[in-house]
Amino acid sequence: MRVDILTLFPDMLVSPLEHSILKRAREAGLLDVRAVDIRDFTTDRHRQADDHAYGGGPGMVMKPEPIFAAVEALAAEAPPPDRVVLFTPRGRRFDQEVASELARDHRIVLICGRYEGVDERVHRYLATDHLSIGDYVLTGGELAALVVVDAVARLLPGVLGKEESALSESFSEPLLEYPQYTRPPDFRGCCVPDILLSGNHGAVEQWRRGQSLQETLRLRPDLFARHRLTLQDQKLLGLVPPRKKRRK
Ligand SMILES: C[S@@+](CC[C@H](N)C(=O)[O-])C[C@H]1O[C@@H](n2cnc3c(N)ncnc32)[C@H](O)[C@@H]1O
Repeated sequence: MRVDILTLFPDMLVSPLEHSILKRAREAGLLDVRAVDIRDFTTDRHRQADDHAYGGGPGMVMKPEPIFAAVEALAAEAPPPDRVVLFTPRGRRFDQEVASELARDHRIVLICGRYEGVDERVHRYLATDHLSIGDYVLTGGELAALVVVDAVARLLPGVLGKEESALSESFSEPLLEYPQYTRPPDFRGCCVPDILLSGNHGAVEQWRRGQSLQETLRLRPDLFARHRLTLQDQKLLGLVPPRKKRRK
């Protein structure tokens, strides 16, 4: 997958892509992330990419011309981008479902706003998608872009090894992940649940499923409400009374 990130601060994107899973994915050719400096597409000698807002008000607004020019130059390269995403607090909330949608694309362009935001014509006539990573205001879209790249990269085939499978992670269904433990079995008197030390894989699976359901219900009732309980889930939550033994 190729991701072009349009930004006024390309250096901000370097280090997070140079570690661990993202680094391996890039080295393996599974993920190609390129930072594109919006100023390279300005035409004046000051490389001006922002200007005052019409109608007054504090702060600057990012100009449309260099952003359109950058996206058009990128779009001329094959394969054309599947979508052009603009980061904005007004956008659709980014979550695992959106990450899965993006992970099916071959190429995406991400536009990072700065200052008071981006000229409305970029919103209306250039961006195909508008994304927000949460109900708070960041100083710029770069951190949002990194969040999106990180979450999407995990879903690309081959990026996670078997031992890191995304399938059992939180949100792979609308459920949170079960609690995880590693050695030591007893840390300052807090012990790992016996079942995890039992070697009984079936029992461990059931315990994990039960924990996942209970934790989601406790911590994220909104998420839990979206989950369709199987009969097994209902049993694990004690919602189905155990069957009485028939008298002979
Ligand atoms: C300071 S913000 C602009 C906020 C804008 N004046 C408003 O009130 O909606 C500058 C840029 O940061 C990015 N940004 C800020 N908050 C974000 C969020 N929650 N999700 C994604 N991007 C965000 C956007 O690209 C935005 O154009």
